[in-house]
Parts: sequence; structure tokens; C-alpha cells
Amino acid sequence: MQITKAIFPVAGLGTRFLPATKAQPKEMLPVVDKPLIQYAVEEAYDAGIREMIFVTGRHKRPIEDHFDTAFELEYELEQAGKRELLNVVQSIKPADMECVFVRQPKSLGLGHAVLCGERLVRGEPFAVLLADDLMVGDTPVLRQMVEQFEQWGASILAVQEVPQEQTKRYGIVAGTQVNSHLMDVSRIVEKPSPEQAPSRLGVAGRYILTPGIFEQIRSQPRGVGNEIQLTDGIAGLLRQEKVFAFQYQGKRYDCGSKEGFLEANIELGLQHPQVGPWLKQYLKQMQLG
Ligand code: G1P
Repeated sequence: MQITKAIFPVAGLGTRFLPATKAQPKEMLPVVDKPLIQYAVEEAYDAGIREMIFVTGRHKRPIEDHFDTAFELEYELEQAGKRELLNVVQSIKPADMECVFVRQPKSLGLGHAVLCGERLVRGEPFAVLLADDLMVGDTPVLRQMVEQFEQWGASILAVQEVPQEQTKRYGIVAGTQVNSHLMDVSRIVEKPSPEQAPSRLGVAGRYILTPGIFEQIRSQPRGVGNEIQLTDGIAGLLRQEKVFAFQYQGKRYDCGSKEGFLEANIELGLQHPQVGPWLKQYLKQMQLG
């Protein structure tokens, strides 16, 4: 079965980036010149997904506007003969891509946000992308995961090795290794302390889930932080069916933290055709100074 839908939970407050996020969604913060949410949507599109489901909250209208037609802007760019910029603006939402918005009425956690997309997913397996995890790979990470899904027909979680002292930032998995990059998951714990972590494999913000997850999320008690956790739903799911953890090829920038966000801006800035050569020179100069 093909994955055609992705859920983007974008209702979070982004308090770690205040004051920048006082009146603007954190998913609209740009890395070089593109908002975080656009990187995630492009990754989903590349993986063959055409229906993008945004689970939004208050103050998230800029995300809706970003994926809508900007008639005046496009008209002005056209009149001014700025074809290249017009193309940049128009390609944000390709004609065959559909964007749907649903509200998460209360901040009850990531599991709850995913549950808000249930009706729109219509009983199919689907992807979840957390935009503040910016993923870069020669083959985009979600595409790698879709390939795994096609092979195994089961839920796939993106995982990476994390430093022992950071286990309390992640969902941590344990299980039986199937091959060098795939694990048959038997346990998943949300944000364990280093002493209690069952491994050092942490879940990155990319998931392919079967629709059985919804029933699990609905029937679970609140978890860490008194929130309805996606991780707890997955813990329920793996008692019913197979769930795999996939060590992807690529790099994750934790753009939910200032350090990761700056790293992403510098590294993607260096690769940017327009400003890359300049930035390289500038960083060299800084080192000399
Ligand atoms: C969420 C998940 C966590 C996962 C992480 C990846 O946590 O709950 O299991 O490892 O995303 O970024 P958050 O970062 O939203 O606290």
C-alpha cells in the first residue's frame, strides 16, 4: 500500500525561541531562506506524498498563508519580469499537492495532535513529520523510510544513536536487530533518564504509522509531562503488530534548539549556491580574527 498522506503537527508554542515566536509560528523560522515547515513538506512530497495534513493551533495562520496562492505578490513579480522569484513562490505548492488544515483545540501532546488527523487519514498508513527536526540526506530520509515500509508493510520509526546523557530528550527504542540498519522494536520509552534508557537509539521526528495507532493513542493514559504521548501509542501498537526502527542515512538538525538551528543555518548556508561561497570566506576570516 502506498503512503499518500502526511501529518505535520504544528500546534506547538515554540517557547524555546521566544521572543522570535511570540507572534510567528516556530515552523516558519527560516533556515537560510526557507521556513522549517517547507523543508518538511518538500521531504514528504519527494517521498511521493501528495496530501499534507497540518494539525494547527492558534496563531498558525502564516503556515496556511505560506501554502496558499499569494495573488498580489505573484502578479507583481510577473509584472516586474522576476520570473525566477515567481517560480520560487509558485513552487511552494505544486499543483498536485493538497493541503488540509485541522485544529488541535488543546495542547494535549504529540499523540493527541496525531489523533486530530485521524478522520483525514481515512484508515490508511501515513507519515508523521516533525518540522523542527530538519533532515538532510543524499536520499531524503522519508523516502528511505517509504522504501522500508514497502518492503516490510509495517510501521517504521526513524532512529539515530544519541549521546547517553541526552536520552531524556527522545523516545528510546530497544529490540532485536534485523539487519545493520533495522530493528524489530520490542520496547519504546518516552524520554527516559540515562540510567533507565533501554538503549541509545533515539526516535527522530519521522514516523510511518499504520492506522492501528489511533486506537492505541485513544486508549492510553497520559504520559510524560501529563501529555498524550505518541511514543506511548507506539508502545501499545507494538504489542499488536510489528514496528521497526530504521537507522536512516543522513543528518538531523534539532531546530527545536538554538544550537541545532544555528548549525543548520551554517551548514545549509555553506551549501547554498547564492551565499555559500561568501559564507565560507566569511567563516575563514572570522577564524583568523
Ligand atoms: C518528540 C517525541 C520524541 C522524539 C522527538 C524527536 O519529542 O515525543 O519521542 O524522540 O520528538 O524530535 P519533543 O522533541 O517534541 O519533545
